[in-house]
Amino acid sequence: MLKEKLQKAIEVINRNDRGGFTIPTNKLYPHQWNWDSAFTALGISTYNKTRAWQELILLINAQWTNGMIPHIVFHENNPNYFPGPNHWQIKANSKTSCHSQPPVLASVILEMVKDGDDYDLKKSQSLFNSLIAYHEWFFSARDPNNEGFLSIIHPWESGRDNCPDWDLGLQKVNIPEDFEEYLRCDTSHVEVSQRPTNEDYDKFMSIVQYGKNCNWDPMNMYNHGPFLAIDPGINFIFLKANKDLLSLAKLLNYKNKIHKIEDWIKKLENGCQKFWNDKVKAFTAFDVRTNQFCDAITNASMLCLYAGAGTDKQKKYTIEHCKRILDDCVYGMPSLDPKHESFESKRYWRGPVWLIMNYMILIGLENEKEYLLAKRIKDDTIRLTDVGGMFEYFDPLTGKGLGGKNFSWTAAIFLKLYRENYDFQLFNN
Ligand code: SER
Repeated sequence: MLKEKLQKAIEVINRNDRGGFTIPTNKLYPHQWNWDSAFTALGISTYNKTRAWQELILLINAQWTNGMIPHIVFHENNPNYFPGPNHWQIKANSKTSCHSQPPVLASVILEMVKDGDDYDLKKSQSLFNSLIAYHEWFFSARDPNNEGFLSIIHPWESGRDNCPDWDLGLQKVNIPEDFEEYLRCDTSHVEVSQRPTNEDYDKFMSIVQYGKNCNWDPMNMYNHGPFLAIDPGINFIFLKANKDLLSLAKLLNYKNKIHKIEDWIKKLENGCQKFWNDKVKAFTAFDVRTNQFCDAITNASMLCLYAGAGTDKQKKYTIEHCKRILDDCVYGMPSLDPKHESFESKRYWRGPVWLIMNYMILIGLENEKEYLLAKRIKDDTIRLTDVGGMFEYFDPLTGKGLGGKNFSWTAAIFLKLYRENYDFQLFNN
């Protein structure tokens, strides 16, 4: 049974293969996405290393000269997706979107090296400088005042597009007078009730229009852009990525890089205190434009354990939230605390479970030796793919699969978690 499911997961990824890069799912997301591709490479690396590295190389090839690795790479035109390259830039030279996404790349690469051999170490060596440049870009563009935390300039940069974390900030985003009319494509592929609202999209596109008009100048976006928020997700993922980059530098014997990365880690470890929300006793998002905390406890709040960040007391509170929230639903970890007034079990990042988040939370819980909780998340992860199939996300109350079907990163996480149960030579053809 498990063996058939592993085979099915490989088939899902193969079907989404577009020759060197993997789309998240047909029609809904017909391009290469940054963190989707990284997690997908992790899944592919369990049965085809060459192809896994190729996935990462194609993504990193799209790196801008300033170091930014974009959130979408448009390898070809596709009318099924909006906004395409022409909506992002006045002169769409780079054929990419113009902000980034949670930087899981270094962590994925370290994982592939740890599970691999000399071939993998060599591959990681060829990508190391790009990773350094990517992290440097995050510091300079998203923490220009050197405060030790990153702020995102668009909700899409968080990867958790419509979670309540951005509600405060989006309320303040004005629709410009010369707002460009547009037509959404996503709701022709997925039920409206499972996607962000039209109001959200108007705000998303207003920020894109602002960015396009200032050529996405990082200082303009940071200081004057319509939206600026501190995301616990991207901050904890970045901290973990820097710790993993440090391990990689040590493995590669890059002595001259070690101090610099150690300093980055120290800075981020201190900086995360900025978004400890003592009112709800959790790390939560903070809207910089209105100078207010968001009160939502989300699956991103749990990532402090993944990053190994926060004081012992803060970690303890987080573990308590984790327990309480798992008790409040049938399948964990929901993207939003079910007790929160904005919880919607089917709407994208306002309630559903996402397996990539489960994967990172699982690592965090194991780091904290919370093995029972970790097992619960791991068991829920397999139950969800039994009940719901290889969907994009899942209803935490019923397990129903939601959003895009035959989804690459869901299949990839399944492979990563369960591949050790079988000899993968069987599938490797
Ligand atoms: N996740 C966004 C979308 O739904 C943008 O990356 O298109």
